[in-house]
Order: sequence, then C-alpha cells, then structure tokens
Amino acid sequence: MDFVFVEKLLVGLLAAVVGAIVVSKIRGRKLRLPPGPFPVPIFGNWLQVGDDLNHRNLAAMARKFGEVFLLRMGQRNLVVVSSPPLAREVLHTQGVEFGSRTRNVVFDIFTGEGQDMVFTVYGDHWRKMRRIMTVPFFTNKVVQQYRPGWEAEAAFVVDNVRADPRAATDGVVLRRHLQLMMYNNMYRIMFDRRFESMDDPLFLRLRALNGERSRLAQSFEYNYGDFIPILRPFLRGYLRLCKEVKETRLKLFKDYFLDERKKLVSTKAMDNNGGLKCAIDHILEAEQKGEINEDNVLYIIENINVAAIETTLWSIEWGLAELVNHPEIQQKLRDEMDAVLGVGHQITEPDTHRLPYLQAVIKETLRLRMAIPLLVPHMNLHDAKLAGYNIPAESKILVNAWFLANNPEQWKRPDEFRPERFLEEEKHVEANGNDFRYLPFGVGRRSCPGIILALPILGITIGRLVQNFVLSPPPGQDKLDTTEKGGQFSLHILKHSTIVAKPRVF
Ligand code: HEM
Repeated sequence: MDFVFVEKLLVGLLAAVVGAIVVSKIRGRKLRLPPGPFPVPIFGNWLQVGDDLNHRNLAAMARKFGEVFLLRMGQRNLVVVSSPPLAREVLHTQGVEFGSRTRNVVFDIFTGEGQDMVFTVYGDHWRKMRRIMTVPFFTNKVVQQYRPGWEAEAAFVVDNVRADPRAATDGVVLRRHLQLMMYNNMYRIMFDRRFESMDDPLFLRLRALNGERSRLAQSFEYNYGDFIPILRPFLRGYLRLCKEVKETRLKLFKDYFLDERKKLVSTKAMDNNGGLKCAIDHILEAEQKGEINEDNVLYIIENINVAAIETTLWSIEWGLAELVNHPEIQQKLRDEMDAVLGVGHQITEPDTHRLPYLQAVIKETLRLRMAIPLLVPHMNLHDAKLAGYNIPAESKILVNAWFLANNPEQWKRPDEFRPERFLEEEKHVEANGNDFRYLPFGVGRRSCPGIILALPILGITIGRLVQNFVLSPPPGQDKLDTTEKGGQFSLHILKHSTIVAKPRVF
C-alpha cells in the first residue's frame, strides 16, 4: 500500500475523531436526540449493529429502544420509526418535512444525483416528474388499456408451463417465466413492445444489466465508504463498476428502445395499438415542451425497470411460495374462482374485483412478505422535530412498515399466513394506506403510484396460475424454502424455488 496515502488516512482519521468528539459535545448539549445505542467516535453504532439493518433486526431494536430510535452509522444519522402514530407523523402530518430521499454514494451514481423521480429530494423536480409520469403510467385508463395485454402474458405463462412435461413431475422454476412476463407487462406500457422468449438476446442483456444494477445498489459491501467518507478511496473499484453498469444500461435504453420508438413515431402515424400512445410518447412530449431533458427521460425508464418489475415479481413469487406451502389456502382460492367465475373461465382484471378471497391472499402476501419492508428511505432536508426529539437535517428515516404489519401487539398471530384475517378482524384494511399498521406501498406524498398497476397484475397472475395448475413442492420436499434475502431496502425470496405445476383438466 502507498505509505503517503496511509499517513494521510491516519491524520484524517485523527482529525475526524477530534472533530466528532467536539461536534458531539456541542450537539449533545443542545439537542434532544432520539434514544439509541451509545455511539463511539467515527464509527458511531456501525460496529455494534453491523451492516444488515433488515426489518427483523430493526424490529428487535425497536423493542429495546422504542418507537423512534437513532443509529449513527459513521457520519450518517439513521432514524427508525416503528409505530403507526409516528408513521402517520412522518408520512402524512409532516409529509413535506420528511418527504425527501437520501441517496448514498451508489444511488447517486445510478440516479445521476437525483435526476430521476424515485430518489430525488422533495421539491419542484419531484413534483414535475410525478406529474409527467401520472397520465402515461398511473391511471385507471392505463389499466384498462393494458389489461388485455397482461391477461395475454399470463396466458402465455400458463401455455408454456402446460407445454413442458417436466413441470408436472420434477417441477419448473416459475420465476423464470414470470420474470419474462413482468418485463413484457411493463415494456408494453412503456414502449408498446414485448420479448418473444426467455432466449431473446435483447431481453437477456437487459435482464443482466438490471440484475447487476440491483445487486450493486442493494449490497451492503459499500457501506463503509458511504458511512465514513475518508474510507471512500477504497471504494474506487466498486464505484467505477457502478458507473460502467449505469452508462451501459442507459445506452441500452436509449439505443434499443428510446431511439427505436422515436424512429417509429416519425415514420408512421400512431395507428399501431389502435392509435393509442404508449407511455414513452407522453414522456417525449414533455421533453419536447422543454419540461424535462433526455437524461430525465432515461432515468424514468431506469426507475420503471427497477421499481415496477422487481417489486411485483418478488410479490408474485412470495405469494406462490405461500400458496404452495399452504395447500388448503390454495384450494380455497381455486374453489372461489371456480364458484364465482365458473370452472375453466380464465380470470380477467374485472373479475379480480369479485373475488374477496383472492384479494385477501394478495393482501396477506404483501403483509407477511413485504417487498420493500422499510419503504424507500425518506429524509428530512432541514432540522425537524419528531415525537419531541430533534432530528438533525439530512437524517435517513426508515419507517419499518414490515414491523407495523407484523407486530403481535397490533395483529392476531401475525407470523401465520392467514388471508382470512382480511375477511374477518381486519376486513376494513386496504393496501392503499387507510390504516397506518398496513403500508406495503407507503402512504402520502412519496407513496407508491404503481399500486394501481401492481394489484391487478398480482390478481391476474396468481389467479391464472392457481386456476390452471395444482402447485406443490418438488419431489422429496414437503415445503418450499422461504428464507428471506434482504438488501439496503429490498426483500425477496433467497431461493427461486422449483414448483411442480400439475395442469388441471377442464
Ligand atoms: C407489489 C409491487 C410494488 C410494491 C410492493 C411497491 C412498493 C413501493 C414502496 C414501499 C414505495 C416507497 C413508498 C415510500 O417511500 O413512502 C414505492 C415507491 C415507488 N414505486 Fe412502487 N411498489 C410496487 C410496484 C410498483 C410499480 C408497478 C410501479 C410503476 C409502474 C412502481 C413505481 C414506484 C415509484 C415511481 C415510486 C417512487 C414514488 C416517489 O418517490 O414519489 N411501484 N413502491
């Protein structure tokens, strides 16, 4: 190692220790900070609590420190909120104060320092992006325009699984089919395009780049350089890789999708798709009007690739895993569809509203297996107050939505997968945030606008699979492995299970 660098590092560390002690003495006198473990200089609580601040570890800390607590992760303040009244305060009452986002060193790269919508601070840019994205993506008109396409994609999955003789005996990894389906569901909306098969070279490149982007962003590997800026030089290699992935990915979006669409629109009138515009046409209009620039357009595509495809796919995967592990619930769902729709009638979007047990299965999946259990981290741009405590400006605020929905003091036997709860004691609870104990999509200004698309896609997909197949674990296994894999704020199933899908004969 370079000795000059080490010397600089040591001097820097010493200065940081002295600085941290002085700052903490000055601040300690003035501020009433939320409770939490005692921090040491430079590292704060990082060495005590480690990297993996997942929903379960944070729930355990909430039991010890209370409904709001503070962790100091190196130089970053992390405030964790774990009760419905404080979730209301952060997301609703003080929704403006806490409505910004933190970005770490890696998210800065992937979002061009907040030129996107999901990770930008609360303000004019966010308002503009959210407005521009609403008409092309987040209205019931979009659902009605695209739901025949989603039904066709789900039928495609059913046909492909039916056509694979091994599916009924050894089983298949359903996720692979569902992943292609989710890309097609969203690429139809964005570009009026779909990928023919899992071997489509463009699909493979896109999937690999999106996968790499998620791995790099959700990993804990880079925490040290994010928490302790003086260690950042050691992250150079990691950050270089992030930049490469980001640039290659945006170039792929531009060359193969954006420019292709522009060409198509310029050469022919919009008579494909019955004259209807796809989402990117609306977004390009906003660019032409000078409201946003081309980078913003590319970051909108980037956001949809991550926020829409992965979250919905993980939720479908979790739902199927729970239904395989609870055959009686799976059968009850099948019976409901047979009784209400008639045996063999393939479920469509309007049907999903007539199936209360299907709705309850989806809600229960999103409760027990939240794809974004800590929401997307919020931030207060300025000094703020919460529950009588001072929250220093630019703190990262995590709302532990998973704990709110799984706290045994608030829910009956929360660790059981029991959809019936949403037809019985919790029958008034909806996924749209009408109850602060249940926020799978958040609530308030920064809540998920994609809920309007996600719920029907979940209903159609889970409905079709359960209607057409009896789903069970592979030979030699009596349950699927539902070990969780968490990231910076994501949660998915660790092992993409093989599932036996025995076709039903109608
Ligand atoms: C089951 C599927 C989904 C789940 C569980 C989910 C969950 C969430 C959550 C928890 C948030 C953060 C809320 C907060 O920070 O307060 C969020 C934000 C967001 N989601 Fe979703 N989401 C899903 C599907 C989608 C889809 C399909 C789209 C787009 C088509 C989408 C687009 C977004 C966007 C753009 C944001 C950022 C909103 C903002 O910062 O203003 N999501 N989502």
